[in-house]
Amino acid sequence: MPTQNPEPQAVAAPITRSAIFIVATLNEGTQHADTVRAWCGDVAALVRSVGKRAPGGDLSCVCGFSSGAWDTLFGAPRPAALHPFRVFGSGDRVAVSTPGDLLLHIRAEQMDLCFELATQLVGRLGDAVKVVDEVHGFRYFDQRAMIGFVDGTENPEGEEAVDFTVIGSEDAEFAGGSYVLVQKYLHDMNGWNALTVEQQERIIGRTKLSDIELEEGVKPSWSHSALTTLEEDGKEIKILRDNMPFGKPGMGEFGTYFIGYARSPAPIEQMLENMFVGKPPGNYDKLLDYSRAVTGSLFFVPSAELLEALAERAPAR
Ligand code: HEM
Repeated sequence: MPTQNPEPQAVAAPITRSAIFIVATLNEGTQHADTVRAWCGDVAALVRSVGKRAPGGDLSCVCGFSSGAWDTLFGAPRPAALHPFRVFGSGDRVAVSTPGDLLLHIRAEQMDLCFELATQLVGRLGDAVKVVDEVHGFRYFDQRAMIGFVDGTENPEGEEAVDFTVIGSEDAEFAGGSYVLVQKYLHDMNGWNALTVEQQERIIGRTKLSDIELEEGVKPSWSHSALTTLEEDGKEIKILRDNMPFGKPGMGEFGTYFIGYARSPAPIEQMLENMFVGKPPGNYDKLLDYSRAVTGSLFFVPSAELLEALAERAPAR
């Protein structure tokens, strides 16, 4: 039986200067499933060992599993709201769904810590998985996104962050867990930079230099911040984001790795619907005229305690 309030993984870890995002698919075969399950029991110790090498480095790792991976690796019972990533939008504006069974979200103040932990974790998975995407993100000036606006300002903090991200009695067996949705975006920086600052500010819904929300009546209903603000019964429903810029200037690659945590996939999916389809339909997020989602996956993040216990849990064969 799980304890009453299982400790979450490091979902609400502090903002760090560096991050590595790794998405992998499971290779077929019971021996590979055995390897991944055993690995679940090793993650915490590896984070501790690597983290000790640089005190104050704030090394952390969050592991998530896709709906399909959950069934293959662990079987029933399964997290109540876990399902494959849903596609939103159509034509040129699509939140695509791409393969991904396992997510590693590694964060630290220094890239060497992230790099070493990624090396250890992936090394131990060996040929049980195939890494299909790996992004090394960095914190830009003043916590700005690649598009030059401060990112993360409206994130919940402290108790509020826990309330919005950690599963409680609604799915007691999986209490202490979370859902996480990731998308890799590539930006058309030439197009974006050709806009005036005022045009960009209307798209985001905030001022660029001072990061202040545009006033009611000035902020368009199609701005990013308007479309991602959700209210239910007069109360705002938030998610916790830790997006990271990444890219290769020499190759013309400029990106944002979006990562959003919540206690249910529903609010993140509602935001995607509002952004890609529009609210009402057609009134979509103009940031998408300059940003293309090239990956998309949804994962369940077990509590730290459950992650360790999963090492011993195999589905009936
Ligand atoms: C191209 C990728 C994206 C970029 C560059 C981006 C950037 C930003 C920026 C600059 C802000 C304003 C400051 C802040 O409060 O953080 C913001 C707000 C926000 N974004 Fe994004 N974002 C992206 C994708 C997404 C996606 C895919 C979602 C959700 C599915 C999302 C959800 C939010 C939310 C909830 C807010 C806060 C809104 C508010 O309360 O005012 N963002 N984003």
